[in-house]
Amino acid sequence: MSTMNTRRFLQVTALLAAGLLMAACGKKEEAPAPAAPAAAPPPPVVKTYNVGTDAAYAPFESQNDKGEIVGFDIDVVRAVAEKAGIQVNFVNTPWEGIFNALAQGDRDLLVSAITITEERRQTMDFSDPYFDAAQLIAVPAGSAVTRFEELKPLKVGVQTGTTGDEAVTQLLGKNSTAIKRFESTPLALQELMSGGVDAVVADNGVVEHYIANNPGGRFKTVSDPTFVPEQYGIAVRKGNAELLEAINRGLAAVKADGTYAQIHARWFGAAAATPAAPAAAGAPAPATPR
Ligand code: ARG
Repeated sequence: MSTMNTRRFLQVTALLAAGLLMAACGKKEEAPAPAAPAAAPPPPVVKTYNVGTDAAYAPFESQNDKGEIVGFDIDVVRAVAEKAGIQVNFVNTPWEGIFNALAQGDRDLLVSAITITEERRQTMDFSDPYFDAAQLIAVPAGSAVTRFEELKPLKVGVQTGTTGDEAVTQLLGKNSTAIKRFESTPLALQELMSGGVDAVVADNGVVEHYIANNPGGRFKTVSDPTFVPEQYGIAVRKGNAELLEAINRGLAAVKADGTYAQIHARWFGAAAATPAAPAAAGAPAPATPR
């Protein structure tokens, strides 16, 4: 086809197309065909909320052999979402960037054994508490440590930016070089195993779980009454009242109908299944169910 013919061909095609379009539009005005696919209503858009979680925190959130994110927190949020009528999708999110990911809209909510603190409340909103926790010290079985204060001359491992980090920073001082900060709690505990630190301070549930699952490491735990009681909450962006309300509604429902107690028993054993009841410090944690 010569250039001229091509142009002509295109012109004719365009005219034909326009004509067809007009005819179609006209027809539609006269008698809208309800059966036509174009007239079918679009399927309802169900928003899926992205849930950020640092999945290196068993038994609250971790990845199983298949790479799936599992844990107590995950089961709680799944159950809450079902009651609230919302859809959730869990996204593994490193702890150090997790609050930013929420603030910037990359995540809609966070569940990550997050302690509700006044400081964090400035930049995010929290659901009602869903779990009670406290800091717990892990030391080698032969260690002489009996109290938190006795960590003062020692090298202490923590996960960066956690409440454990805050407690140890307060004890040893902001500029202390004896604080070893790790990007995950398992990394801090591994360092304890290899002797790189003398103690680790982290959430009781995670320390107990780790020790129960690594008996070869021969650690023991030391609790201290000066550790303030902590409570975990599900975080949403500041001002996201609608989502927060849905979550609190779902949370109340799972607590009321026994779902929460079931999930608690699944991950922590049958005892102490009251929502937000003090966790039994020092009690051996059961192995992660598969
Ligand atoms: N509860 C502690 C805090 O809020 C530690 C949470 C760490 N969670 C995690 N999935 N790494 O600071």
